[in-house]
Amino acid sequence: MRKLKGLVLAGGKGSRLRPLTATGAKQLVPVANKPVLFYALEQLVEAGIDEIGIVTGDTAAQVEAAVGDGARFGANVTYLPQAAPLGLAHAIVTARGWLGESAFCMFLGDNFLMGGIADHTRRFAEADWAGQILLKRVADPAAFGVAVLDGGGRVERLVEKPREPLSDLAVIGVYYLGPEVHAVTPHLVPSARGELEITDAIQGLIDAGHEVRSSLVAAEWIDTGKKDDVLEANRLVLATLRRRVDGDVDPDTTLVGAVVVEAGAQVRGSTVRGPAIIGAGTKIVDSYVGPFTAIGEDCDLSSCEIEHSIVLDRSTIRGVPQRIADSLIGREVVLERSPLKPQAIRLMLGDHSVVGVV
Ligand code: DAU
Repeated sequence: MRKLKGLVLAGGKGSRLRPLTATGAKQLVPVANKPVLFYALEQLVEAGIDEIGIVTGDTAAQVEAAVGDGARFGANVTYLPQAAPLGLAHAIVTARGWLGESAFCMFLGDNFLMGGIADHTRRFAEADWAGQILLKRVADPAAFGVAVLDGGGRVERLVEKPREPLSDLAVIGVYYLGPEVHAVTPHLVPSARGELEITDAIQGLIDAGHEVRSSLVAAEWIDTGKKDDVLEANRLVLATLRRRVDGDVDPDTTLVGAVVVEAGAQVRGSTVRGPAIIGAGTKIVDSYVGPFTAIGEDCDLSSCEIEHSIVLDRSTIRGVPQRIADSLIGREVVLERSPLKPQAIRLMLGDHSVVGVV
């Protein structure tokens, strides 16, 4: 059985999650109060892959501060700065020296896959294929790399975001590759979007006569590129939550179902209906926190109602009369009822913010 390295991609642009990602790495957006990137690291380690390289871009400092040397994940992490986000295959070129002749699992740091990768990893490690990809049937294949299979499950063709639907099999952002890929990458040319595409690299392996296999994945998979995708990943993880109350909950509060109140959090005169998680140091007063909601650390919520939402650290929501739903609220946001006259909505929003008023 070959020993794989892990290559996690945490560079790139994150333009679809602006303004959150105008200042922060998209791979650090929290799902159930944990950066989406951490799920990838945990799943690699769980699959026996503990030698991990993380490709970074402009947000390298944040990623390094969050992950550190990898010891807390049981991994040995090496950072591989990519000069510019020139594509997923360019990330492999960037990592070439570190990868050496090892086979590896490349995991996109914004991809979220329920159930882990242990079985897929074992299957590839035990075989001698040059590649293995994971596929999922999707309703909108034009948004992804798409695969065409021959009758026997072998991958015949891969196309990045095809305009004409070739199949409904999207390529998941977890790729298994052997060192053969390094003979292909020097010949790749930038695509229409100016990137060296992973789909072209794998197509190159197939065209060179190497064996590339695929697995159809039944587990839920989410590319957390947009707000509703992040909320959906949050919903999936919260659905597995167990009740744990380490914080301070007063007798006037009702907790229903799977609620986590972290140490140092305070809940007063409120209803929290699980699954929901309240981060350390957060204060909830006279409020309703509804199902599928994750409130980050050191937030301050009073006289408000919120459900199916994510609130990042150090934000304040105070006296908002309408229930907030389906929302992704960034760090240090202040959302409050204004006493000023005339009565009006007063906004200070970053570029690309989206607000739906009633
Ligand atoms: O999510 C699966 C899809 O991921 C696949 O179906 C596509 O075939 C694949 O090309 C990719 O498409 P995206 O357009 O969603 O890739 P994105 O630009 O979002 O980049 C994926 C991750 O890799 C993200 O965490 C950022 C990181 N990245 C991206 C580029 C282009 C890098 O670290 N370096 C890069 O140069």
